[in-house]
Amino acid sequence: MMFNRLIFGLCAGLLSVSSLVWGYADPGACSGDCWAHDPALIRRSSDGTYFRFNTGSEIGIWKSSALTGPWVYEGAVLPNGSSIDLAGNTDCWAPDVHLVGSTYILYYAVSTSGSQTSAIGYATSTTMEYGSWTDHGTTGISSTSAKPYNAIDPNLIESGTSYYMTFGSFWDDIYQAPMNSGATAVAGSSYQIAYNASGTHSLEGSFMYYRSGYYYLFFSSGICCGYDTSKPATGSEYKIFVCRSASVSGPFVDAAGKNCVSGGGGTLVLASHDYVYGPGGQGVMADPTYGTVLYYHYANTNIGLADSEYQFGWNTIGWSSGWPTV
Ligand SMILES: *[C@@H]1O[C@H](CO)[C@@H](O)[C@H](O)[C@H]1NC(C)=O
Ligand SMILES: *[C@@H]1O[C@H](CO)[C@@H](O)[C@H](O)[C@H]1NC(C)=O
Repeated sequence: MMFNRLIFGLCAGLLSVSSLVWGYADPGACSGDCWAHDPALIRRSSDGTYFRFNTGSEIGIWKSSALTGPWVYEGAVLPNGSSIDLAGNTDCWAPDVHLVGSTYILYYAVSTSGSQTSAIGYATSTTMEYGSWTDHGTTGISSTSAKPYNAIDPNLIESGTSYYMTFGSFWDDIYQAPMNSGATAVAGSSYQIAYNASGTHSLEGSFMYYRSGYYYLFFSSGICCGYDTSKPATGSEYKIFVCRSASVSGPFVDAAGKNCVSGGGGTLVLASHDYVYGPGGQGVMADPTYGTVLYYHYANTNIGLADSEYQFGWNTIGWSSGWPTV
């Protein structure tokens, strides 16, 4: 890892980024209850307590005083499910949590596996503690088979004084819509920002992170789940890609300059390695101790491949080339 970085630093001017083969560092430490699925990670601004939320578990809440743990399960955000009247509303997915003003907003998706009948809802809390969350139902972003996208996997980003929701999974992949000033309701029509025309168009779980003049669009691509019962062909399991743009709405390109809509671009950030299998469902957080951190779930081949065995992983991101490496 250090060796690769050193070589890169010396040769960056001579080699194209895409020609380099990166080694991946093992995930950082995790103790306590480290199960994860599409994790959302955030530090509470008042006291620095870490909160981690997961798909399933009615959006479970895990708490820790440090990124490395020990993580303790507290209870569910939506113990009675979502008020959105769609199938799947008692098994919400893909939490995404942000502090907007003085309120924490947790976005979630209601859908069922393989269905385009979906909606993005939200709940609010001022502390993120168990029992403090209020469900508000839909943001107005939803889909049916009449739409080119599937309205799941929400991710909010603030750009200047405006908010945008990025979302999508399969079909025509990743879309984005402007949100209102409170970041609670959609305020304009949706447009496509990333697409892979080949295979099953498996982009999903997007997460946007702003750094030094660029919006980095991370996404997962490949088969996410069910590895214990149906192991994907080698290389077709989940992995994490990135594209970037100087504008929140694109156009996004990868490190080789390939357009991430028309060219199917995407630079690989993290794929299976060593005991790590099928990493994805990622997010990025600026951590005061570890720097910018990529966090994700993965199957640990020493533990098991079932969804119920997925582990919380994180790595510090290196940015020396302007593109994230772990
Ligand atoms: C869930 O439903 C139970 C039973 O109706 C109720 O007592 C409880 O307050 C509800 N919890 C939330 C968070 O709405
Ligand atoms: C695009 O899809 C192909 C075929 O499934 C896959 O091999 C490739 O990794 C995908 N690329 C991205 C950036 O999603």
